[in-house]
Amino acid sequence: MSTTRKGGRKQLTVHRGDRHARILGLGGYRPERVVTNEEICQFIDSSDEWIQQRSGIITRRFAREDETVIDMAEAAATQAIERAGISKEQIGAVIMATVSHPFQTPAAAPILADRMGLAHPAAFDISAACAGYCHGISLANDMVRSGTVDHVLVIGVEKLSDFTDKYDRGSAFIFGDGAGAAVVGVSDTPGIGPTLWGSLGEQSDAITQRESWTDLRPAMEEPGREDGIPWPAFTMQGQTVFRWAVFSMAPVAVAAVEAAGLTPDELDAFVPHQANMRITDAMIKALKLPEHVPVARDIAETGNTSAASIPLAMSRMLDEGEAPHGGYALQIGFGAGLVYAAQVVQMP
Ligand SMILES: CC(C)(COP(=O)(O)OP(=O)(O)OC[C@H]1O[C@@H](n2cnc3c(N)ncnc32)[C@H](O)[C@@H]1OP(=O)(O)O)[C@@H](O)C(=O)NCCC(=O)NCCS
Repeated sequence: MSTTRKGGRKQLTVHRGDRHARILGLGGYRPERVVTNEEICQFIDSSDEWIQQRSGIITRRFAREDETVIDMAEAAATQAIERAGISKEQIGAVIMATVSHPFQTPAAAPILADRMGLAHPAAFDISAACAGYCHGISLANDMVRSGTVDHVLVIGVEKLSDFTDKYDRGSAFIFGDGAGAAVVGVSDTPGIGPTLWGSLGEQSDAITQRESWTDLRPAMEEPGREDGIPWPAFTMQGQTVFRWAVFSMAPVAVAAVEAAGLTPDELDAFVPHQANMRITDAMIKALKLPEHVPVARDIAETGNTSAASIPLAMSRMLDEGEAPHGGYALQIGFGAGLVYAAQVVQMP
């Protein structure tokens, strides 16, 4: 902290803002229930073969009916804090990235902080869909570097099974449930590169909740509805999203590597949002990623878990020895908004 006087007016005391930050620990949680393509195909006209070919998904996990985003976040966050080697009382802020916490308010983060017995940290949710975790990492980096807090818990968590229309052929097979978490803290060396991020609000209809909550009001107020209340499931224009991801996100990924002062062959892992295996393959080509760089392919067994997909995929790569601890990973999230964020991080 520093205080100086200029022109007679006392200047504000501010944090020093010259620290480095990195990810100290990662954690992940996948619900127990494995859902096969055959099970998905009970409700849509499709096949295991088509789903595997077009998306790379073989299975995904669905949470129990009574299992909430808070429950899943708690499991991932507990593991991340343990692995970071800090005590939970040291967490100064909780950033929860989710689009499937089923309450408009209050946010999920303060409920999680209370559940975990954290020391009443700042706690808030961010809504940036599949890019939410990378947005959270960027905010946490800035918060730690500027001295606002020493340790930030960043969580990406989704229970997308609650918001998926199982009869919608265009999206029923894509989504899964899960949670991933990171502890970002003070570091001697820079561990989070510059974030490249942005939005394309003119394409906000490409992935969207079908109706707004207020659209449902008249239906809810109708007495004696026998067909139930219409549910605002998420819908997706698959091809629009696919084209955008393939053509527009690869240059962002390249720019994030350049901004960190690296070249693609200096990466130790590539962890794109697990949206579709074919999107990942197209990005690898566009990046001209050398073959020795391992690539996250967690989508095969986890599906698309939106905000949770990157931390889940990265912690799996570390746990299975596929990526080296301390190595540099390029991560890029993109999704509903349309919004995106990419950065190179040093893996814990
Ligand atoms: C959803 C997605 C897998 C669909 O794949 P696609 O190759 O674009 O498929 P298309 O929509 O072009 O449809 C191709 C054909 O398959 C059919 N089809 C569509 N859904 C199908 C399904 N679930 N099962 C079988 N056939 C299906 C279509 O009817 C079409 O048939 P036609 O050629 O006879 O008209 C793909 O668009 C995608 O992954 N998009 C991005 C999704 C994403 O990343 N979302 C999250 C972003 S965070």
